Amino acid sequence: MTLPMKPRRSVLYVPGDKEHALEKAKTLPTDSIIIDLEDSVAPANKELARKQAAAIVREGGFGTREVVIRVNPLETPWGMVDLHAAIAVAPDAILIPKVSQPGDILGTAKVVKAADGNPRTRLWAMIETPMGIINAREIAACAPDQDNRLACFVLGTNDLLKESRARSSNRRFAVVPWLAMTLVAARAYGLDVIDGVYNDFRDDSGFRAECEHGRTLGMDGKTLIHPSQVIPCNEVFSPTDEEIDWAKKIIRAFEEPENARKGVITVEGRMVERLHLVMAKRVAAIADSIAARSRVEEPWF
Ligand code: COA
Ligand code: MG
Repeated sequence: MTLPMKPRRSVLYVPGDKEHALEKAKTLPTDSIIIDLEDSVAPANKELARKQAAAIVREGGFGTREVVIRVNPLETPWGMVDLHAAIAVAPDAILIPKVSQPGDILGTAKVVKAADGNPRTRLWAMIETPMGIINAREIAACAPDQDNRLACFVLGTNDLLKESRARSSNRRFAVVPWLAMTLVAARAYGLDVIDGVYNDFRDDSGFRAECEHGRTLGMDGKTLIHPSQVIPCNEVFSPTDEEIDWAKKIIRAFEEPENARKGVITVEGRMVERLHLVMAKRVAAIADSIAARSRVEEPWF
């Protein structure tokens, strides 16, 4: 038996004030959409973006795509209004920017509870400040308590570069330790982690290389800024045919009656332990849910 999995390979930001882009997102083969009210929306458009985001989420039509609203930080003049508007339309998740300590999650979860938020709405946390990296473990530790609704970390690499004064050159050499720290903190508490964006959206080979890099680090997917990034990202973060075949072989081998009580077996000359069975079941579950999705083709891709 495999568990149903939610692939989060491609997670596309769409500025909340761009109505056309919001409509277009409904036709793109992206796993998740983040409707942004924060960094990509100028102060003059904050109200418009909030209204449009609420209207489009209420209206629906996103199919299997997960819909997330990124609010402004609660200490800004827009944050609390954004949060209440988001809670009212019950998206799959609300993404909280610049999470630096567990209190940022606990406080938001309390507001969601007090506003009688739909139980389906989860909280996602942007990890994008030096303090957020230092406290990643304590923040992730909020996850096991279901009342806190915490489901996913999203790396904000542009903010991290700004705050740290590091450079992104050399295969992100400077930020890799922070990405890896965040990843293990998240995994210790069962959270998904989505990599940061690749700004140069016309550079296909650079983008693909950074997707591979993120996948090697263990990321579940990547945040995206442009429709042209969706398909290559899905390709890199999907299990390959070889990985799926190998996973199925491991599952079948452990199902053999003679292996039912064994901890370690040999499959095609390679040692396979029960921990590989757990990994194989995850690969098979992700592959199943990807296969179950109807693929939306866009002629301009
Ligand atoms: N989501 C959905 N559709 C998008 C999109 C997005 N993020 N970015 C662009 N599109 C659409 C455009 O509306 C356009 O649609 P059309 O061909 O039907 O008219 C098409 O994709 C091609 O867009 P293009 O002209 O190549 O890009 P642009 O110059 O309009 O915009 C950006 C470039 C970077 C400004 C834009 O992609 C964007 O706003 N990205 C998101 C930025 C963001 O949210 N940042 C915050 C997190 S880091
Ligand atoms: Mg940011």
